[in-house]
Order: sequence, then structure tokens, then C-alpha cells
Amino acid sequence: MQFEINRKWWKEKVVYQLYPRSFKDTNGDGIGDINGIIQQLDYIKNLGVDVVWINPIFESPNEDMGYDIADYKAIMKEFGTMADFEFMLKGLHDRGIKLIMDLVVNHTSDEHPWFKESRKSRDNPYRNYYHWWDAEKGTPPYRWSIFDKENNAWKYDATTNSYYFHIFSEKQPDLNWENPEVRNAIYDIMKFWLDKGIDGFRLDVIACISKDINFPEMPKDMHVSKWFPYYAQGPYLHDYLQEMNREVFSKYDCMNVGEMSFVTTDDALLFVDEDRNELQTFYHFDHTGVGISQENFMYADASNWDLVAWKKIFYNWDKVFAEKGWGTMYLGNHDMSRMVSRYGNDSETFREVSAKMLHTFILSMRATPYIYNGDEIGMVNTNHTDIEAYKDVYTINYYNQLKQKGEDHKGFLLSHAKISRDNGRTPMQWDDTNQSGFSNTTPWLAVHKNYTSLNVAAQEKDPGSVLNYFKHMVQLRKEHLTLVYGAFELVDESNEQLFAYTRTLENEQFLIVLNFSDTPAQLNTTIQINKENILISNYEQPCKNNNYEPYAAVIYKTRK
Ligand code: GLC
Ligand code: CA
Repeated sequence: MQFEINRKWWKEKVVYQLYPRSFKDTNGDGIGDINGIIQQLDYIKNLGVDVVWINPIFESPNEDMGYDIADYKAIMKEFGTMADFEFMLKGLHDRGIKLIMDLVVNHTSDEHPWFKESRKSRDNPYRNYYHWWDAEKGTPPYRWSIFDKENNAWKYDATTNSYYFHIFSEKQPDLNWENPEVRNAIYDIMKFWLDKGIDGFRLDVIACISKDINFPEMPKDMHVSKWFPYYAQGPYLHDYLQEMNREVFSKYDCMNVGEMSFVTTDDALLFVDEDRNELQTFYHFDHTGVGISQENFMYADASNWDLVAWKKIFYNWDKVFAEKGWGTMYLGNHDMSRMVSRYGNDSETFREVSAKMLHTFILSMRATPYIYNGDEIGMVNTNHTDIEAYKDVYTINYYNQLKQKGEDHKGFLLSHAKISRDNGRTPMQWDDTNQSGFSNTTPWLAVHKNYTSLNVAAQEKDPGSVLNYFKHMVQLRKEHLTLVYGAFELVDESNEQLFAYTRTLENEQFLIVLNFSDTPAQLNTTIQINKENILISNYEQPCKNNNYEPYAAVIYKTRK
């Protein structure tokens, strides 16, 4: 099929997500810092990636590891200074790498001066920056909260005898986007950073900025998947995004990606159709439920893995963006357990080969690929079952809540261990020296004990390592526009072990075959496969007697 490709730089880039707290510590406080990133700039460059998304580095009391900002125009002291930041930005740009910052604008920290003012009196000029409910009106309609100690999104504040609203922890009050002063203040912050030369933003929980602020009663026993109008995707979301685009994005050559909860394939284009001038891309969560209980997202459920259904999710999303808009592709980030442990297999036998298979997948789809730091070497879950090992407010507050209520908090942790966010936040494993070369002291979150064998230094030396495979795959994506823009079609879609598809652009076609299982599998297709035409594979011989090896990945060139 012929179609016109709408080339844009941000479609052709590979994004590396960098979690600064766990990347590299240079001043011996056990916390990663900007100087650590500066030390590793050549490492990042050598990966072949061209954009870095850095998790929040603004001043913050770190209730939620930087997702609670106290000063949007200052660098968190633990991470360094503004001069360090500028030096890092220049270092990235000198190497041809762009930087996108993670901006949290649905809420601030309760230590932000706006909130400190807002809670002082009912007639404070900043009162209307947040959502307040005066106690004379009675108890506000119940809203569940993600990180709250009592699961309640309303916090009573005695000073003004009112409640304030917080979807996340009580230290993360929601901003009132219906107040134009709030919106202008945020646009001003965005311009401040873009004027410093950054290349765009990752917009944290951006769907939440508009919600029903009449706060109607929520029907009892409603399933969480139906909650969105009460929390996100509200009536003014598109107005705000268009205004943001007009006031900010349209004035810069920048790249923006929204974290988009509750988005569906039906309304996806409303956000990213170029003609609507909102965002360029967003990421959704439809494929990330693997291993997680759909009844209660805090619990693991290994049984909900259905490859055929999973393939269909990717197929449906690809079709949405076939002609307009553009997608994102990721399997891991700082909010998830490690991709190899979830979608691959972290046993000694299959860890490396399944990590390579997943990289083949991420880097051969029609969407901008995002790689989360540590995944390039195939880091895996820690699965801690003792609460002392945790730093994440999400895990800790839920655990304490169950404990207080006399419920099964130990059973919870046994299950949650496999999916906790801290699995993905352990320090980078640079080498086999003490603390994995991350720090010379005890780090803020313990290093995974497998660091002596699984680390960057060892993999750099080994031509067959996950790291070198990843770099090779990044290069292949850059060399073949077909892997970026080519049409995507499923092959043998009912196969329960293999995820196979073609990518076709003009006369060039690739067939990608990925075995997502630990046993050999046969592909059912009429496509002519020539074993001489293998672009890349994680096995010397991925297919023996018509059977693809466990976790095999191979890209064939099937047409020239
Ligand atoms: C996003 C972030 C997550 C954070 C939450 C609240 O989901 O990715 O880390 O806890 O928003 O800001
Ligand atoms: Ca440090």
C-alpha cells in the first residue's frame, strides 16, 4: 500500500527515560545527581538514543519522589544547582541529544508557596488556585485517593475549616485549572524552561487537569475503570490543551508527550490529530495490565496474560494512528516493575534472550520508542517482601492502611512485591564494585543483588550482551525508515506464543517474529521467508525444524 509519510523529527527519535535519583551519585549521599548524569553523557550518547526524558528534578520535599513540586523554577538541591542543569543541557545538546522535562501540573506540593498561601484564609488571593470545600456544606462527596493513608482524597484543614482535594497523597493538592491565573502561571513556567533551551515536556497525569469540580456524589460500588469523569478527561481538557499549545508549544520546536489515563482508541485522535493543535503524542496504559489484578491494581495476578488479546491491543492502537497523529511504544517506566520480569522471563536461562526479544519489539513498532534506564542491560525486579525495603509512598501507605484496619497486610506485600514501582527504581548497575558503581555509600534504595554479574561494564565488553543488542537494534531503526513509518500488519494473529507482524513501506518489507513463551513455537504464514535475509536475531539459529526457540526474536527482510 502506498501512503504519504508525514516525517517529523520526534517520530524518528528513540527516547531514553532517565530516573535521576537512581542513575549516578557523585557526592556520596546515596542519591543520584545531575553531576552523575554529566559523567555518563558519553554512555547515553553511545546508546544511540536521541532524546532524554528526565523524571522531575524541580525543588520538592519528595513525598512522591519529585512528583510533588515546591518550586517549578528551581532545581532540587539533592540533584544539584541550576548551573549543573545548564551544563548538563549543553552536554546533551553538544552530543546531538534533546532533553524533555517531566512537568507535574495537575498538583503541586503542599509546600509550594501557592498552597501555603491558599490555606491561610478563605479570602487569600491564592485560595482559588486549589479545590476547597467549606465544612459548613457538610462532608464532601467521597473520592478515593491513590496514595492517601486513609484512601480519602479530601483532607480537612482546620485553619479555614475546609477540605482540600488531592487525587494523590495529601501532600499533593490538586491545582484548580478552571482558574485562568493558574493556567497562565503554568504557561509561564513552561516558557521559562523552553527559553533555557529544553526541547519539550512529558506532561504528568495531564488528563486529570480537567475533572468535574462540582464534585457530584459517585455511585457506590462503581468499578475503578468507570471513575474517569470524576478524576480526569473532564469537560475542558481539550480547551486547556489547545490553549497550552497556542500560548506555549506553538512558539517552540518542541516535543510533548502526555501521560494519558482513561484515553480510548475512540477519542485518541482528539489529542494528537495535527490539525487540532493539542499534543503531539501521549501514552496510554492499555497493554500494561499484564500481571496486575484488574480488581485491585495493588495486587499481582499472573494469570491475566493472554498474548492474543495483547496483540489486538497493539493492532487497534496502531490503526488509530495509521493516517493521523502518532503513538508511543514502551514496556517499562518508573511506575512499573521491570519489563523483563513482566513481559519476558527473568530466570537465569531466559533473562538475556527475553530482554533482547523485548528490545526487538519496542524498536520495531510504528510509534516513538521509549526505553527506561536499566532496561538496556535487562535489569530485573527485586520483589522485596519486607516493608522496610520500600521507599514508595504508594506501597507504604497502602500497607499501613491495611495494617491499621487489621487486614492482611503481609499477604498484600507478598503479592504486591512483584508489581511494586520500587522494582523499577533500584540504582543503575554500572559495574561489579561496591554498590554497583552507583555510589560509594548506602544508596537511598538498595541495589539489586545481581549487580556483580548484571552490569554495564560487563555488558560493554561482551559483544553478545543485551546492551550491545539494544544498541544494534537502535541503529537498525535509524537505518530503516520502514521500521519507523512502515505499515503494520499482524501475521498469524491467533498464535498464542508468537507475536509476528510485517512492516511495509513502498517496496521494502520486514517480517518480525517474536516468541513470547518459554517453549518452541511454529509460525503459520504464507510469507516467503529466506533465512539468508535476517536483519537481526537474538539466536544464531532462531528457528530450528520450523520451530522458533523460546523467546526468539528475528527480523527478516521479506521484500526489497
Ligand atoms: C504519574 C507519575 C507517577 C506519580 C503520579 C503523581 O503517574 O508517573 O510517578 O506518582 O503521576 O504525580
Ligand atoms: Ca548525590
